[in-house]
Amino acid sequence: MEKFAVQGGRPLSGCLRIQGSKNAALPILAATVLAGGQYSIQDVPHLTDISVMLEILTTLGAKSNHEQSVLTLDTSSLFSSHIPVDLMGQMRSSIFLMGPMLARFGEVTIYPPGGCAIGERKIDLHIQGLKALGANFTYFEDHIHCSAKELIGADIGLSFPSVGATENIMMAATLAKGKTIIRNAAKEPEIIDLQNFLNRMGAKVCGAGTAVIEIEGVERLEAVSYKVIPDRIVAGTMLLAACMTGGRLTLENIVNEHLTGLIDIVKQCGVEIEYAHDIIIVSNNVPIQPVSVVTGPYPEFPTDMQAQLMAFLALSKGTSVIRETVFDGRFKHVEALKKMGAQINIMGKEAHIQGGTAFKGAEVNATDLRGGAALVLAGLAASGTTFVNQVHHIDRGYERIERQLQSIGASIKRIQT
Ligand code: UD1
Repeated sequence: MEKFAVQGGRPLSGCLRIQGSKNAALPILAATVLAGGQYSIQDVPHLTDISVMLEILTTLGAKSNHEQSVLTLDTSSLFSSHIPVDLMGQMRSSIFLMGPMLARFGEVTIYPPGGCAIGERKIDLHIQGLKALGANFTYFEDHIHCSAKELIGADIGLSFPSVGATENIMMAATLAKGKTIIRNAAKEPEIIDLQNFLNRMGAKVCGAGTAVIEIEGVERLEAVSYKVIPDRIVAGTMLLAACMTGGRLTLENIVNEHLTGLIDIVKQCGVEIEYAHDIIIVSNNVPIQPVSVVTGPYPEFPTDMQAQLMAFLALSKGTSVIRETVFDGRFKHVEALKKMGAQINIMGKEAHIQGGTAFKGAEVNATDLRGGAALVLAGLAASGTTFVNQVHHIDRGYERIERQLQSIGASIKRIQT
């Protein structure tokens, strides 16, 4: 077990290069199953979730080498369509393998996927989509067997624009016969990155980034080289870290437009932001103004930034409201923020944040990935020392967050407990 000791009160300044996107890299790694061969994928961050995905692929017969941020992966000799139960349960993204495995092998056995405990995380839309493509599902007590002699293109309407279901269906449909249309598809930048990756492999996918994605099935795909997009959630977290500590930070390797939802809100709060190509410069010396925010599917405010924004708004001059509409259990960080001095009331899906009280150091537990990041942010702005326990949650999405923060002036240490 490891924890962070954060000595607050230092403005974060300097320049930070943002890591590649976890949520783009994970489906891309799953998609390598669609065609055997040697892949070279750049900007793949070293994270627990990525290691688990690589372990699953290795168990299925792939060979991988992840040095610096370049991943070489050989999926020529996959021999199993059975994803081990213990690995499947370690993260939500293991479910991404369902579509590609089905398309390549005609069958796959899956167990319930794991992931952050942030509310109910069903897979019904994934299953509905694959069923529409012709897959059969047999349910056992602890696993599901999924098979299809062939996949046939279909017109699929999602009742909610689920990111994972959109990606799973997209991947499976690349090798289906004929045309698939996904309506009410998720529009996240990671969906566009997956489309770009699949098309480089020889797929015919268009429309990603809009609500309608069309996939014309092809006979075969091939292994390619690719570079993953920057991680907009890590960029957003670092941007807020600079705002909360009164620093001036330059973020490199970002895509401005991916951060629009967050930047609009942060600007409303009075923070100064300058753009230049793929760089953002953020500085804050003024009081933070309160705002009302509703999370929602892209391009709305990202649920993955909700906890970090809450820590930021706890420093504002007034009462802010955050309404969480994507996940039903995503306020687990609130107790720890309160322990550090924040005044927050939860009313159903809404958090009312009474700003104006300064954070003070405390010993707190990270309960999930982004909630854990919020506690680190609060610690950076707090007086005294904050100890954040259970940092394995944070390691799922931030590549050595303490080193990134140290490089811009933070006092944060990883401690073995
Ligand atoms: C992805 C992201 C995660 C982010 C989330 C929402 C990855 C690896 N993870 O997760 O960081 O928080 O998008 O932006 O990309 N739902 C169903 N049935 C389904 C699937 C989803 O009801 O079959 C519901 C979920 O319970 C949840 C909502 O849809 O309430 C959003 O889930 P979804 O968009 O699928 O998120 P993930 O793909 O799991």
